[in-house]
Amino acid sequence: MAILVTGGAGYIGSHTCVELLNAGYEIVVLDNFSNSEPDVIRRIKELTGKDFPVAAVNLLHAPDVSRVFAENEIEAVIHFAGLKAVGESVAKPLEYYHNNVTGTLTLLGAMREFGCKRIVFSSSATVYGADNKAPFKETDPLPAAASNPYGTTKLVIENILRDLCVSEEGWSAVLLRYFNPVGAHKSGLLGERPKGVPNNLVPFISQVAAGRREYLNIFGSDYDTPDGTCIRDYLHVVDLAKGHLKALEYKGAGAEAINLGTGRGYSVLEVLAAYEKACGRKLPSRQAERRPGDIAESCADASKALKLLGWRAELGLDEMCADAWNYEKNNI
Ligand code: WQD
Repeated sequence: MAILVTGGAGYIGSHTCVELLNAGYEIVVLDNFSNSEPDVIRRIKELTGKDFPVAAVNLLHAPDVSRVFAENEIEAVIHFAGLKAVGESVAKPLEYYHNNVTGTLTLLGAMREFGCKRIVFSSSATVYGADNKAPFKETDPLPAAASNPYGTTKLVIENILRDLCVSEEGWSAVLLRYFNPVGAHKSGLLGERPKGVPNNLVPFISQVAAGRREYLNIFGSDYDTPDGTCIRDYLHVVDLAKGHLKALEYKGAGAEAINLGTGRGYSVLEVLAAYEKACGRKLPSRQAERRPGDIAESCADASKALKLLGWRAELGLDEMCADAWNYEKNNI
């Protein structure tokens, strides 16, 4: 029996595949490689010494998805595959709803066809919207729509999974709400390699440190926070990957939303300082206007993950920056 990892060649998916294989799981990777490199599969195999099937499949092609289930005995699915650029989702909402929501419906249809009723879903802290107060709890009221179409696709899919679990006996869906995943595998073989100009803070700082970007724009320094810059709950991608194994082992029925965060927030300036320590030099930065859609603080109440999954983040900001820099300088 195997675990199907959709989006398994992606940033979080690849790190999760390594943890699954090292823990003795059989896996099948499904990825359309629209936002990931096939070489990542080679690196996962190199890191673990394990082999596994790879299906270069688009979740929108139902016959191809069914064939993956027909050809492999799938006991559960970890569903990462999806478009995830916030800014792009504002410009291309139809593509985001079609790819993320329709793709998930196709996946769930194949799961039901083959009697596979366990799913761990890659959701996001973005579902909390702008009206809740940090630290966010899973019981906080959710908005009808998130602050961008990407976040709303996550909300919609969470609702689909909740309704499915109510409608049919035997389904289990763990909805993992990630805060801000950063860092890379210690080996320097896996990490975050966004296409084009990085939207996110740490990949952008990495490229400044590598001399690929001239300076970091600090989006806003007049927020209601101790140093005026936004606070986020950054968590190491390897901690996040390990949280997925705990979610797989969770035997609860129905749909369960669980935050994966450290519970400790850091400001933009604190992250910049930690990264300068990691790379051993001051990095150029400039004050810039606030970025539309940003909120002052996003941080997890991480108590449910500890209580229900026995999971807590173990790696701190220094390791996140050191591992991110190690990956960047080894993959320039
Ligand atoms: C963090 C802080 C920026 C870049 C997003 C998605 C979320 C999740 C994680 C998928 C903010 C500031 C950033 C820069 C900056 N993705 N910043 N200069 O916005 O919290 O979350 O990524 O699930 O869904 O919304 O992360 O890293 O983009 O920004 O000052 O060049 O860094 O303003 O305050 P964010 P981020």
